[in-house]
Amino acid sequence: MKVLGIETSCDETAASVVDDALHVHSSVIESSIDQHRAFGGVVPELAGRAHVATIGPVVRRALEEAGLDPHAPALDAIAVTSGPGLIGSLLVGLSAAKAYSLAWQIPFVGVNHLEGHLFAPLLEQPDLDWPVLTLLVSGGHSVLVLQSGPGEHEVLGETIDDAAGEAYDKVARWLGLGYPGGPEIDRLAREGTAGKLKLPMSMTGDDLDFSFSGLKTAVVRATEKNRDVALADVAASFQAAVAEQLMRKMRAALARYDVRGIALAGGVAANSRLREEIAALGHEFGVEVHVPTMAMCTDNAAMIAAAGLYRLRVSGPSSLALSARPNWPLVDVA
Ligand code: KG4
Ligand code: ZN
Repeated sequence: MKVLGIETSCDETAASVVDDALHVHSSVIESSIDQHRAFGGVVPELAGRAHVATIGPVVRRALEEAGLDPHAPALDAIAVTSGPGLIGSLLVGLSAAKAYSLAWQIPFVGVNHLEGHLFAPLLEQPDLDWPVLTLLVSGGHSVLVLQSGPGEHEVLGETIDDAAGEAYDKVARWLGLGYPGGPEIDRLAREGTAGKLKLPMSMTGDDLDFSFSGLKTAVVRATEKNRDVALADVAASFQAAVAEQLMRKMRAALARYDVRGIALAGGVAANSRLREEIAALGHEFGVEVHVPTMAMCTDNAAMIAAAGLYRLRVSGPSSLALSARPNWPLVDVA
């Protein structure tokens, strides 16, 4: 069984062909990020227009790279992100999926973008041992999830304000760095010393929720007060504080739940400090660590195809009346 995945929830236009053994035959990603940089964030109108221009060529390339005839591909279904995300962007992918479904006479299924991210580690390690505790951190979301199997997930905690990636982007903007801020801060932090800027510990209670808005404000206050502190030291201190909070909550969850592995997912999973710390945490608790490659951490369509394969099996195809859901929390995914 072969599925075409389509992802257009934010600024990436992506298409991928994946089979039911979770073998990735192609994965094409185009991003409109260069159009958004000057604005310091994704401009929904520009993202939507870019998807309209790119979706056809991206799907065609994904089919060709998978060795399929782009006019009559030997596919069994289409999986498309139907939420959460930017409404105008989601609608481009969803409309394309419906059109291909009609033209090629194959079913399609709407996929939750966050559930897609949860399938990313599986694409690189299909035989991983369950249950797995997954930290899903991106520009729009920060959730701690207990996965008892593929597609079986329980949200243990989530951010009460900003997402981790959003905090990275806002702090980077304050520091005058480029967008997206995560990679910029990560790079700069390598030249700095963590702890040079004193930042408060947030969310020290025993719940498993996160908060990053206070940390962002603390960086602003501390740098206003202490104008001589080096930018690299600010970056290193902020990055360490984010990782410290995320790891503290994972440690608390590991003390409560018996799992075989821990995993990172989402764009912030590309963070070098977080990758180091999760490896150390896995070693400390004697559990396997699943950290996807950078390409699989950030938005892609292979993870959507993988989640779609699962959803088709357990929930069946979607109807042509399916609407995009810009706000679709993971807890509502049945
Ligand atoms: O998952 P993703 O590609 O898109 C969303 O669904 O949000 O995540 C993008 C986010 C951005 O906020 C970006 O700043 C952050 O991931 N990011 C990073 C790094 N690379 C990307 N954050 C910290 N360190 C990085 N190396
Ligand atoms: Zn994402």
